[in-house]
Amino acid sequence: FLLVSSSHHSFALQNEEEEEGIINRRDFPKDFFFGTATSAYQIEGAYLEDGKGLSNWDVFSHLPGRIRNNDTGDVADDHYHRFLEDIELMHSMGMNSYRFSISWTRILPKGRFGKVNRRGIAFYNKIIDNLLLKGIEPFVTIHHHDLPAELDKRYGSWMSAEMQEDFVYFAKICFEEFGDRVKYWITINEPNVITLMGYTKGVYPPGHCSPPFGNCSIGNADIEPLIVMHNMLLAHAKAVRLYRTHFQKKQGGSIGIVAYGHMYEPLTDHEYDIKAAERAFIFIFAWVYDPIVYGDYPKEMQEILGSQLPSFSDIEKNIIRGSLDFVCVNHYTTFYTKDCLHSPCSDGGDHAITGYLNTTAYRDGVSIGDPTGIDVFFVVPRGLGKVINYIKERYPNKPIFVTENGYSMPQAEGNNVEDLIKDTKRVNYHKDYLASLAKAMRDGADVRGYFVWSLIDNFEWADGYDTRFGLLYVDRKTLERRPKLSAHWFSSFLGGNLHEL
Ligand code: NOJ
Repeated sequence: FLLVSSSHHSFALQNEEEEEGIINRRDFPKDFFFGTATSAYQIEGAYLEDGKGLSNWDVFSHLPGRIRNNDTGDVADDHYHRFLEDIELMHSMGMNSYRFSISWTRILPKGRFGKVNRRGIAFYNKIIDNLLLKGIEPFVTIHHHDLPAELDKRYGSWMSAEMQEDFVYFAKICFEEFGDRVKYWITINEPNVITLMGYTKGVYPPGHCSPPFGNCSIGNADIEPLIVMHNMLLAHAKAVRLYRTHFQKKQGGSIGIVAYGHMYEPLTDHEYDIKAAERAFIFIFAWVYDPIVYGDYPKEMQEILGSQLPSFSDIEKNIIRGSLDFVCVNHYTTFYTKDCLHSPCSDGGDHAITGYLNTTAYRDGVSIGDPTGIDVFFVVPRGLGKVINYIKERYPNKPIFVTENGYSMPQAEGNNVEDLIKDTKRVNYHKDYLASLAKAMRDGADVRGYFVWSLIDNFEWADGYDTRFGLLYVDRKTLERRPKLSAHWFSSFLGGNLHEL
């Protein structure tokens, strides 16, 4: 299967090849970052080791019935003990960068209400040093879903403005301890997923939802996501201000935030649906990025949500405006979008914030793309290029990173190990999405890097271990890693030496 390499193709054929989804390393600049992405809770395990405190996810995953098969991240991929092997594997694939996150409770077991845990810092020092030894650039996410349980207990974590100080306190320690070697910082991963899954649908901690958006009445899905986002955006902005004032000049790094940004196409040619597709992107992606780039929420959100939407003071606007060096998008799929503003949709819309539209994957009974292991994700390569172009226009002159893109396969549905390892569909997914990205770059988008979600099969939050995104297969009993066909494809695409292992 190493024949999938296309390095012998000539330049002249480039356009034709890309239409067929054939893609070449030469289609990207030499210094382009190719990496994989992970997060602490999803891969590390060792949940009580070396002084680590309990996180919201440790607590939530132990509640019966919350996670598929009652899986937990207690052991996960045991990356805490196997990180050297994992770094060696990404190196063999020819990756020149790696995006990972820092477990808040390894560094601060009780948040700012306790001591710094030096053994936690030692762990991330080892990771960073070993990456650099292999010529792999670390991209560090400071907060990727897991936070000290202590902060939930004290004031409901992100529901409280206090949390802004907690985050800045944690971020400062990260800049102090790791900033001499880490040059790419990401403050928060997908605040727009934390609001959706944690405070609208209730399937991530703290499990808040209210009808008709979820199956419970804890919290208020109309209001809470807006408050939580507001606190996260201000926490981000204050951490960036701290970085810029005290660290950036000396350390020479850069900083941003990650939001998920799928693509939305109108379900029909009716102008209402066309407007709904525009609204989808605004209510989901620009909700995060407009404040950070321009200092305030999008005007469409202000108009529709009125006084429900929290507002920034003038001082806050000045702190948040421009608090980024680059734009990061996690992109997996595309949906059709249907208007619910002019004629109410029967189920009231997809979720609280975007209750004025519905998304679907079918038009006239035809699917927008082939399904993947996550039932709402479909394979639509053109969507990546479209999202990149949209970002380029709405937020001009900022470098862009695709901080996640990936294909999942379920363990269930009769997939046996060999089927999961011979992941031709994942190879095709990446080839086609990369071709779409390369085209957007030829059309002028300043994209600097692409990260595959994920390096390795891992704990897919509420889906547990059944949903597999990795380039490396993990045997859940022995935790042995086995490179999939896709790992070999990346190795040959990037000029790695995985096949020699
Ligand atoms: C987004 C998240 O950042 C990551 O944690 C998750 O596993 C992937 N997408 C796949 O759903």
